[in-house]
Amino acid sequence: MSRSPASTLTVRQARHIGGEISVPGDKSLSHRAVLFSALADGQTVITNFLPGEDCVCTMRALQAMGVAIETDSPTRLVVTGCAGKLKPPLEPLDCGNSGTAMRLMAGVLAGQPFKSKLVGDPSLSGRPMKRIVDPLTTMGAKIQGQGDKHMAPLEIDGQPLHGIDYTLPIASAQLKSCILLAGLFANGTTSVTEATPSRDHTERLLAHFHAPPNIDVTEKGKIIRVRGNTRLHARDFNVPGDFSSAAFWIAAAAAMPGADLTITNLGLNGTRTGLLSVLTRMGAHISEAVIDSTCEAFGNVHISGRKLRGTKIHGAEIANVIDELPIIAVIAAIADGDTEIRDAHELRVKETDRIAAMATNLRAFGVQVTEHDDGMTIHGGGADKLTGAKVASFGDHRIAMSCAVLGLFAKGETLISDTACIATSYPTFQDDLQKIASFSESGLASFLGGNR
Ligand code: S3P
Repeated sequence: MSRSPASTLTVRQARHIGGEISVPGDKSLSHRAVLFSALADGQTVITNFLPGEDCVCTMRALQAMGVAIETDSPTRLVVTGCAGKLKPPLEPLDCGNSGTAMRLMAGVLAGQPFKSKLVGDPSLSGRPMKRIVDPLTTMGAKIQGQGDKHMAPLEIDGQPLHGIDYTLPIASAQLKSCILLAGLFANGTTSVTEATPSRDHTERLLAHFHAPPNIDVTEKGKIIRVRGNTRLHARDFNVPGDFSSAAFWIAAAAAMPGADLTITNLGLNGTRTGLLSVLTRMGAHISEAVIDSTCEAFGNVHISGRKLRGTKIHGAEIANVIDELPIIAVIAAIADGDTEIRDAHELRVKETDRIAAMATNLRAFGVQVTEHDDGMTIHGGGADKLTGAKVASFGDHRIAMSCAVLGLFAKGETLISDTACIATSYPTFQDDLQKIASFSESGLASFLGGNR
């Protein structure tokens, strides 16, 4: 997907964070809602769809395979499902920057009776795809990436598949979802066992589309089974706000003494909200009110800010906060004491190496960081000494937004370059920043509003 020219975001120290906002629709759920409704029979109306570049890639790929998707507004889709029968795409399918788009779509395409090719941007083309190629091959798929690591582009020659029993070697919802989706088109039953829980949106949305997987919780972990040739059926879906987007404001408000912020219509699926426990352990005051939990829980969160202290994040908690670790690193820099993040090897293979990127950028703000293979220790306690910095996003939306939040706490001006990537997940980030933050210099629009 082509991007507007690289841009720079300028942020200044904030005096206060407060008010009430809602954030755009959840990225993981938007991908799945459009994909599952496309595979279903009948018509689904999706509301509050995230019109970020990542989810638009999934939507366009489905359109390129014959699925009728009408968009009368960027956030409302009317999807007429293909009842499991996609059409061969005439051109390579562009997944842009999105690992979710590529890995979930590969699962579906492995069992379709045609050839297809999945391509991505340079970041996505450097991310590990062997993790999906190996189990899909065991199911009978013909799928080929570049080199030993099977990087994108992925060439898929759709084949009849057979079910497998697969134990996830890493906690990854993308890998789990890829195998379960392939299982829907395979002969027999496919089971996926996960020892460490990862986000469970696929399980929940399959149930929403009338194809509930069979789930057992055992000593080995959670076993999820789907049967081949299961048909999904259309059902309207409203996407709740993205917890991982709200995370920037939740964390910023929690760490700013005097802040008072409410976030409404927010996705509160317990496999995603680990940040709330981490911040609470750090001394934050946060209250959560679930409004509905029938399919995907959603509700409101209220945060009142205060001084926080360091903590340790490791083990099973990591999967639940995987996308929030960059903003947790930022908050750790503002908190008193050390914060240690371990068992987070997966951060090395996200949109960029998020351990290296955050260590580099935090140091530019004057923060002391010790890098580990599987994480980092952030030496906090220097909140008063933080100075605005010139940093790069490394082409990674979450690095860009995390550094923008750190800019709210640092003296002077912070410039973040190459911030067009923010549009992959949070196109209105800058507007929302301006809504909730007020700035020190009277009469001056100190947040320069610059995506320059
Ligand atoms: C996602 C799963 C996570 C997460 C990503 C979205 C999903 O990736 O980091 O932003 O929608 O399934 P992994 O499954 O690779 O951990």
